[in-house]
Amino acid sequence: MTIQWFPGHMTRAKRQIEEKLKLIDVVFELLDARVPMSSRNPMIDEIVGPKPRLILLNKADLADAETTNKWIDWFRSFGREVLAIDANTGTGVKEIGGRVKTLLKEKIDRQIAKGMKPRPARALIVGIPNVGKSTLINKLAGRTAAVTGDRPGVTKGQQWIRTGGELELLDTPGILWPKFEDPEVGFKLAATGAIKEEVLQIEEVACYVLQWLAAEYGDTLKDRYGLADLPSELPDIAAAAGVLEEIGRRRGCLAGGGHVDYTKAAGVLLRDLRSGKLGRITLEAPVI
Ligand code: G4P
Repeated sequence: MTIQWFPGHMTRAKRQIEEKLKLIDVVFELLDARVPMSSRNPMIDEIVGPKPRLILLNKADLADAETTNKWIDWFRSFGREVLAIDANTGTGVKEIGGRVKTLLKEKIDRQIAKGMKPRPARALIVGIPNVGKSTLINKLAGRTAAVTGDRPGVTKGQQWIRTGGELELLDTPGILWPKFEDPEVGFKLAATGAIKEEVLQIEEVACYVLQWLAAEYGDTLKDRYGLADLPSELPDIAAAAGVLEEIGRRRGCLAGGGHVDYTKAAGVLLRDLRSGKLGRITLEAPVI
């Protein structure tokens, strides 16, 4: 298994985002609520610098609500503004405007003190691929979406999307590269669909997920696949593979000779996980 994190990718992404930072008031850092740390680019603080930032835990509909609250407390303990959202249905999205006002309060107050009418806040969405950037842009834009023309100081081709509220979004989000040299991070990103399955062995990803599920969501796993007994600790990959085999057998994922097709079994498990059929599951918890 060779996974490399190309510094060139990050340098390019960083440069592109830095260009856009000049144009905006606030950054929306989009993370996956199921894997808030693993879906975070480790260089984000360096990239965004002192620009006000709102952390959005997206796909909260798929995440464990209790753990999402722990993550919210965790981010707040570092003084961060954070909100859990579901960009697909729009849950939480309406609260973004209020949070932006809180973040930009000093700036807005200064404008008012100078007798100026505060203009809409300009925002840039950043996040790793597949975290929901386009979905959020579309949701914020809604039916009132109006793409405004080029403006002075705006790089040619970049446009502002006026949302219903007092917010304008850059139409192209900043794409961040996930860093997954750490195999566990890679497994989590593959499990949630942030990185392509081909990058990692799908069976290995499934075994990793099974170890976590057995420990944290044992009853859910037992109920879903009718597993008779399931230890809460699957100490190694062989133990997890045994559970995967059982799932495969129960789901009819068979290869020739009545043997279980592990690849198919892994596909069933990961599809169930991603679609929410296994319930609301978070794959990492904050260390408090
Ligand atoms: P990106 O721009 O950051 O690359 O991500 P994009 O918006 O394309 O979203 C990636 C996938 O995540 C899409 O699913 C999208 O529907 C889904 N998604 C985005 N936000 C949410 C959310 O809050 N909750 C849930 N459950 N899903 C979300 P897809 O598989 O590409 O298409 P489809 O499943 O919608 O057909």
